Amino acid sequence: MEVLSVQNLTKSFDKDDAAVNDVSLAVEQGELFALVGESGCGKTTLLRLVAGFEEADRGTIAINGDIVTDDGYSLKPEKRKVGMVFQDYALFPHYTVGQNVAFGISGEPASYKKQRVKEVLDMVGLHGFDDRYSHNLSGGQQQRVALARALAPKPKLILLDEPFSDLDGLLKDQLREEVRNIIRRAGATALFVTHDMRDALSSADRIAIMRNGDIIQTGTPRELYDNPENLYVANFFGKINALQVRVKDGCFQMASGCIRDVKNYGDGDYLIGIRPENVEILSSCAEKCFKATVKLAQYFGDHQQIHADVGEGKNIVIHAHEKVLFHEGDTICLNFDPVKVHVFQNAEA
Ligand SMILES: Nc1ncnc2c1ncn2[C@@H]1O[C@H](COP(=O)(O)OP(=O)(O)O)[C@@H](O)[C@H]1O
Ligand SMILES: [Mg+2]
Repeated sequence: MEVLSVQNLTKSFDKDDAAVNDVSLAVEQGELFALVGESGCGKTTLLRLVAGFEEADRGTIAINGDIVTDDGYSLKPEKRKVGMVFQDYALFPHYTVGQNVAFGISGEPASYKKQRVKEVLDMVGLHGFDDRYSHNLSGGQQQRVALARALAPKPKLILLDEPFSDLDGLLKDQLREEVRNIIRRAGATALFVTHDMRDALSSADRIAIMRNGDIIQTGTPRELYDNPENLYVANFFGKINALQVRVKDGCFQMASGCIRDVKNYGDGDYLIGIRPENVEILSSCAEKCFKATVKLAQYFGDHQQIHADVGEGKNIVIHAHEKVLFHEGDTICLNFDPVKVHVFQNAEA
């Protein structure tokens, strides 16, 4: 069952380019769905359209099967049964934690409200915090109050805008895991926005990657990392070496050897991508290895980052985990796993 269905949604502000451009996506019951992309690509606008804070130019939005946005129709935000968690928490400073959480529950008897506030504060690990004021709480605690407030009315869908971006380090890693578990336990469905690929990869069931108002690829974290459709997506999720190569005789031709075209792309020119961790440095040079020259070697403790010339002026980055240290000018012998070569046919640098 789809809790959120967005179809052909478009929103322009006063500029030529649409902030959200003909976007379609569906979020299934119980899913944690991440919307990722660089700053300014339209993530917040899309979230605000779903929440009803912005009116669409075109397209439809359905929440739990009910149309909330359609041609000229826009259901008021408070009627949409969505919970919203903002980047800056947006708590009322002059309210207690309990009052903040109770804020979203309307039309219920006071005794129910009190009970529900206790329930959600327990859920987010803030048992007994009812009478505290938010300005005395840490950033992580404030974020949990904001989450409790969003969960309190039992919304069908929770929207979170950059929920972890004001936090860092261990706290961020812990809170990310905690928020994920809380949303799961509450049985809620969530759409969250982040510009940090680590948030998306580690927390989301599925990810949609946005660029200039468009969704350019949707998939599980694994699918996006392992099978990016283009170089932009590949780069977003970590460093990747891009090489322009020709396939001939069933092989990607490189100056010092060739990588078998195991997926049978066939003759032609291709842009290929190889992640640094998928290049192996061999301890001795076998007949079929690729000779390369080290241009720069940097030691980072857990790995060495090596820039190597693989011939014809092509440079690649390798993450090596060998104990032996490499130096500029060394000749190294490489092996590429042909299965791990990404081939971008709709090349986009
Ligand atoms: N209220 C607004 N008025 C005019 N332009 C806006 C408004 N909100 C967002 N934009 C523009 O829409 C684009 C997308 O912004 P936004 O959705 O905030 O991106 P993101 O959340 O991905 O950083 C940007 O170019 C931004 O300047
Ligand atoms: Mg934003």
